[in-house]
Amino acid sequence: MYASEQAWREVDAYFVDTLVPEDEALVHARRSGGATTMPQAEVAANQGKLLALLCGMSGARRVLEFGTLAGYSTIWLARAVGRDGHVTTLELEPQNAAVAADNLRRAGVAERVDLRTGPALKSAEQLVEAGTEPYDFVFIDADKPSNPAYLKASLALTRPGSVIVIDNVVRNGAVTDPDSVDDRVRGVRTVLADIAADDRLEATALQTVGAKGWDGFTVVRRVR
Ligand code: DHB
Ligand code: MG
Repeated sequence: MYASEQAWREVDAYFVDTLVPEDEALVHARRSGGATTMPQAEVAANQGKLLALLCGMSGARRVLEFGTLAGYSTIWLARAVGRDGHVTTLELEPQNAAVAADNLRRAGVAERVDLRTGPALKSAEQLVEAGTEPYDFVFIDADKPSNPAYLKASLALTRPGSVIVIDNVVRNGAVTDPDSVDDRVRGVRTVLADIAADDRLEATALQTVGAKGWDGFTVVRRVR
């Protein structure tokens, strides 16, 4: 066991100071997480930049995000797709969506972001029904029990070559418990099993430590 979670945080602070400058809009968006229903649940700065890099590496122009919160990761993603790119981000809570809308304006990306308020699965189904052009990159970071449903919706809204990233797959280690009665743990285990069983998908999962404690994410590539 690692003795010092403090050391993880110090290393993250060093990495962020060295490689991940945040402008005023990102700093404000991160701090305004305190005005949402889930303070501190946004990704760390170096994780936001990883999402942006993955978008850039995969040439993503169209991004779909489940779970906006204050729009911190949304800003990273919207900047990564560039002026001609597009982000659709889905948020359940009107209170959070209002905070996010203000942050997206401050960051200068509001015109390239479609922020939809309401149950994310319903919004995603509306996108499917509307025959929305496929997304190149999906970030699933909303309520964890719905992860399997969000993956299914993502498969209806992507194409071969698309990338899907799922946040928070560690659940403080509880993810290894096949008998867990925690719906969030079950949501993670089920989505990982669904990914493994789907021959359209190739995936890995990584644990992370740092500013957000002990957690991790799954990276999925849709190959067909
Ligand atoms: C929780 C959700 C998140 O998306 C996150 O990044 C951290 C925590 C949560 O449900 O507690
Ligand atoms: Mg998260």
